[in-house]
Amino acid sequence: MKKILVTGGLGYIGSHTVVELLSVGFDVVVIDNLNNSKEEVKARIEDIAGRNFELCIGDVNDAATLEALFVKHTFDGVIHFAAHKAVGESVDNPVMYYQNNVSGLISLLSTMEKHKVSNLIFSSSCTVYGAATDLPVTEKTLIQKAESPYGTTKILGEDIINDFAKHKEFKSILLRYFNPVGAHPSAKIGELPLGVPNNLVPYITQTAAGIREQLTVFGEDYNTEDGTCIRDYIHVVDLAKAHVKALTYCQDMSHNVDVFNVGTGKGNTVLEVIRAFEKVNGVKLNYKIGPRRGGDIEQIYADTSKVNALLGWSAQYDIADMMQHAWAWQQGLQD
Ligand code: NAD
Ligand code: UFG
Repeated sequence: MKKILVTGGLGYIGSHTVVELLSVGFDVVVIDNLNNSKEEVKARIEDIAGRNFELCIGDVNDAATLEALFVKHTFDGVIHFAAHKAVGESVDNPVMYYQNNVSGLISLLSTMEKHKVSNLIFSSSCTVYGAATDLPVTEKTLIQKAESPYGTTKILGEDIINDFAKHKEFKSILLRYFNPVGAHPSAKIGELPLGVPNNLVPYITQTAAGIREQLTVFGEDYNTEDGTCIRDYIHVVDLAKAHVKALTYCQDMSHNVDVFNVGTGKGNTVLEVIRAFEKVNGVKLNYKIGPRRGGDIEQIYADTSKVNALLGWSAQYDIADMMQHAWAWQQGLQD
């Protein structure tokens, strides 16, 4: 495979993935509407990778823009990141989420079909497992009705791809990400949360930087070793590398669709994450224990044996690396 279209390639996970693709020799074309990213990320990606790529500032819902891109280039595969991702916002504005995440996927699939482009990597999420009771979750763990419209768009996305692939020369890998955190070790690219962050790690780094006064730990009465929730935090560079492995596997597989958990396989509590941040960076964090946050599940972490065995991928970075790189990125933002 040579030329890959990356939708949402200037975003958090997309930008790290474009770096990895360029670094191993793929040619890359990105389409991004800058809805949740900045154009300057392009130069930063090129600086890290030492290679350039083409950027189309456009929307995947715009059929004419996609058509023009597919006429101009012969793509060997597509990685589809472009989507909205804020759980709370999706509850307030479900139509916007179905429009962007579901219609965007359909628009992409119909253009791929027309141009006979057949390898698709899709960004799914461990949110599809809901509050699973048997841990760690495997790819066979039952999918549960989603708690939010955002979660529903991920389940629908998987269903649409499965249906689409059934009667076609089409192959797709669904990657179920656990909790992506951290930033590129160069501190040149990372997450750019708009406004007050919802997620734990940007809230930690912004508190340490003095942008937020205090972090609230949402609940310490869960049935875990220290009473706080457990998640499987995965370094964004490790996650990016999984996409490169998935592309090669997708092209060679004999069946149409496959699904992989992408996590470390290890769960950390909120307090463990805070302690790892404090220790590796030598920074004291101002935090308090507060009530539970509505909708949070107690714990989830991945069984990674399938991704380890079939994609030949496993996470290389640990929680200390994730916290170190997240902090270096945050500090760079303030310079
Ligand atoms: P992000 O918001 O940083 O990146 C998404 C990018 O897509 C942005 O650059 C945005 O401008 C662009 N975009 C959005 N809608 C578009 C459209 N219609 N046309 C063109 N570009 C569009 O998000 P991310 O964290 O990099 O997430 C990437 C994917 O991974 C998303 O599908 C998300 O749902 C999924 N995911 C993310 C997480 C997470 O915690 N970050 C977890 C599981 C799954
Ligand atoms: N947390 C705090 N304080 C905060 C923020 C978070 O204690 O200020 C806790 C949460 O209660 C949770 C843990 O930190 O226990 C992780 O919370 P995040 O918001 O970082 O991540 P979630 O696991 O809740 O959600 C993430 C993505 C969603 C996705 C979900 C499942 O943000 O988009 O994983 O894939 F749907």
